[in-house]
Amino acid sequence: MELQGRVAVVTGAASGIGAALAAALVKRGARVVLADVDSDGLARVGAEVGALATHRVDVSDPAAVTALAADVRERHGGAHLLFNNAGVTVVGTFEEHSPADWARVMGVNFNGVLFGCQAFLPQLRAQDRAWIVNISSLFGLVGVPGQTAYCASKYAVRGLSEALWEELRGGPVGLTVVHPGGVRTGIMENARAASEGGDHHAASIERVRGFFQTKTVKPARVADVILAAVVAEKHRVLVCPETVLFDGLRRLAPGLGNRLAVWGLSRAMGLDGMYARLPAKE
Ligand SMILES: NC(=O)c1ccc[n+]([C@@H]2O[C@H](COP(=O)([O-])OP(=O)(O)OC[C@H]3O[C@@H](n4cnc5c(N)ncnc54)[C@H](O)[C@@H]3O)[C@@H](O)[C@H]2O)c1
Repeated sequence: MELQGRVAVVTGAASGIGAALAAALVKRGARVVLADVDSDGLARVGAEVGALATHRVDVSDPAAVTALAADVRERHGGAHLLFNNAGVTVVGTFEEHSPADWARVMGVNFNGVLFGCQAFLPQLRAQDRAWIVNISSLFGLVGVPGQTAYCASKYAVRGLSEALWEELRGGPVGLTVVHPGGVRTGIMENARAASEGGDHHAASIERVRGFFQTKTVKPARVADVILAAVVAEKHRVLVCPETVLFDGLRRLAPGLGNRLAVWGLSRAMGLDGMYARLPAKE
């Protein structure tokens, strides 16, 4: 898939992987339309990269995503590339997640991807060649305690993406599902504790934030890997060594592989809380 001169829509573009994708796309000659709920971040990144347009869009709102697609079709002749990247996380046990926590995580991480695919597919199909990139996660490959809603949303993105790429096979639209490991972005800064959990995960969340600020991969590197996968028309891309390792372990022995992945993640982050065994509620 050629990037030069193509119109690319990136959601969650005000920060992290989305902002890095926007910059990397422009560097490769694409014209970018950026969407996010963070207006200030959007204006900053839009100006930095020289975006075609920026839109304040909540991807969990189907009408807003449909309006974005209509605007891109009318003003820019339709998208060739769609990056469904916006995402959020909530930290806490399953029992601490309220219905609102589930609605938020599934709304942004899964419905955002679903609505993006639904709204943009007609205009993508009208192009000679077009591509969808859906951002799942390492947590769409392994099940992690403290992250039930996030894992469910990312497994759902993987399921939707793998089924859709089979459905689209042979047509003008291709699809890549991306599974990044730890990336140095705002995801943990923006993470919320589960509503029913009080503040007893605060120390774990701070520790994970520290880990993310120092030990993880830079988003520019992830954007380069993702765009290389799009150019090569790969359907699945694992980013970061831990993703390759833990995906391999899960394939060899699903139950034991998952346990080893959780153990490895907890060790790496210096936790015996959040990812391994959440501290008991007082
Ligand atoms: N950082 C990691 O380690 C990591 C690992 C695996 C997967 N991911 C995924 O990568 C994607 C990008 O996240 P990131 O790490 O760059 O985090 P980030 O917090 O830096 O960026 C996420 C962006 O999404 C935006 N956003 C949140 N809710 C939105 C909504 N309802 N509508 C539109 N935009 C919204 C935020 O404002 C933010 O700009 C997410 O899907 C995340 O789950 C991240």
